[in-house]
Amino acid sequence: MPDVAEAGLASRLSGWMHRRSWAIAMTVAIVITCGGLVILETARQRIASEYEAALEARGVSMQLSDLDGQLAQLRSHESAFLLTKRDGDARSYCASAAVIRRTIRSLDAWFTRAADGVERASFTQIAALIDARIGSGAQALQQASPHRLDLAACGDVTASSTADASLVTGTLSLLRDNEERRAQRALDASRADQRVSTLVAAGLSALNIVLFILLFRNLGIEIDRQARAQKQLITQQEELDQLVNERTRQLEALGWHLQAVSENEKTQLARELHDELGAILTASKMDVAWARRKLQDTEPAIAEKLARALETLDQGIALKRRIIEDMRPTVLATFGLVTALRTLADEAAQRNGWVLDLQLPADDIQLDEQTEIALFRVAQESLTNAAKYARATQLTIGLTVLLTAGGGEVSLHIADNGIGITPADLTRTHTHGLMGMRQRVAARGGRFDIRRGDPRGTDIRVVLPVANTGATSAESGEGRSADEAGGRAPGQHTDAPVGRL
Ligand SMILES: Nc1ncnc2c1ncn2[C@@H]1O[C@H](COP(=O)(O)OP(=O)(O)OP(=O)(O)O)[C@@H](O)[C@H]1O
Ligand SMILES: [Mg+2]
Repeated sequence: MPDVAEAGLASRLSGWMHRRSWAIAMTVAIVITCGGLVILETARQRIASEYEAALEARGVSMQLSDLDGQLAQLRSHESAFLLTKRDGDARSYCASAAVIRRTIRSLDAWFTRAADGVERASFTQIAALIDARIGSGAQALQQASPHRLDLAACGDVTASSTADASLVTGTLSLLRDNEERRAQRALDASRADQRVSTLVAAGLSALNIVLFILLFRNLGIEIDRQARAQKQLITQQEELDQLVNERTRQLEALGWHLQAVSENEKTQLARELHDELGAILTASKMDVAWARRKLQDTEPAIAEKLARALETLDQGIALKRRIIEDMRPTVLATFGLVTALRTLADEAAQRNGWVLDLQLPADDIQLDEQTEIALFRVAQESLTNAAKYARATQLTIGLTVLLTAGGGEVSLHIADNGIGITPADLTRTHTHGLMGMRQRVAARGGRFDIRRGDPRGTDIRVVLPVANTGATSAESGEGRSADEAGGRAPGQHTDAPVGRL
């Protein structure tokens, strides 16, 4: 169990590291960069102070050289006086002594502040020797002079011990060498610090370059990954679209098939109602009429009953006709689409008090049966809806056929000037009228469009493809008249010659 827990922890840790790898890398890089900057700044300060120390040491060394030179000058002024006994040389001697004392004071301040104990002691010793040398020199000038000299400018000239010139020169050169070495050491240290700075700066630059390379590489990988994901998404979307299109086609085919089946069943039922029930009712009516005629004089009461039975039979026949009409509009089968639409519109306009604007072809047209049924049913449902909801006063029905060499299309337009369909009505799913129209049209590869009119009313347009058989309205209109109550001429597309009873 502990092994499993450890493995889980390790995998969580590695997952966390993987997710946070960039954050960790950036943090490490920032820490390293900050550390490098601190090192660079420290090195810069050290280099500055080392340069300062080197400059100071060089300055001291030069001052020591100057002191050596000033001592030589002092000696030359002394010798000149001893030879010439000129007061001017004595004054020059004192002036040199003053310069030497100033240099010694300046050097003394530096040795007291910066030099180590041995150097300080050596310098103090030298300073004392030089002082004594100035003093003994001044005394020698005084003794050699024929008159009393004013040696106040030489300062304290009481010291009398003789100074060893070679000791002074040797110690001065020792001190100078020391300062030269110190300057050299400071310069070496500053060069070493410069090398460290260069290395750190190079390291930081290399780190940044590596980070940039990694960043761009990672960005490239990420862009590639996103592009692949996008491509995959597009492929999936295309597959999905294809599937949806296929399913839609299947559903349309199914809808088409179901409607065809339903229309066929209706046609068959209508035929049976017409042939069987119609025959029975007609026979009954003829029998009852015969019995009524026979009994009219002898049995007036029974004749009266039979007259009522005849009326009931008439009602039955009318009902049967209406049912047949609904199931299989005989006017469509008999007279064609244009007449069927005109009849439908006339009846509806009469019932609802509409002013009718019919824009139908003057002659009948012949389309294939299913297209005609689809257009007729759409018109039927549109008029029913207009009657139920529109509260319209005017109704327009238009039908146009456009035939081209390879085919053509038929377009049906129905518009009312009523209250107008609402957007919510267009998306209703629990009603079947609009949906049925859409399905019928889609199943035949057509276009269905319903919209609210501007400023009011409802506008429906249906466009269906038709095969150009060469049959024109004039041709198809011929031989199809009210006299041919048995239906369309033989050879025409309808196989349901449902005649009137
Ligand atoms: N010409 C019209 N004017 C105003 N509203 C309309 C018109 N035609 C349809 N509608 C609105 O659209 C809705 C949907 O119509 P649809 O024919 O689909 O359903 P229905 O007539 O209510 O029911 P069903 O046709 O299934 O018996 C209707 O309920 C009605 O509110
Ligand atoms: Mg309806």
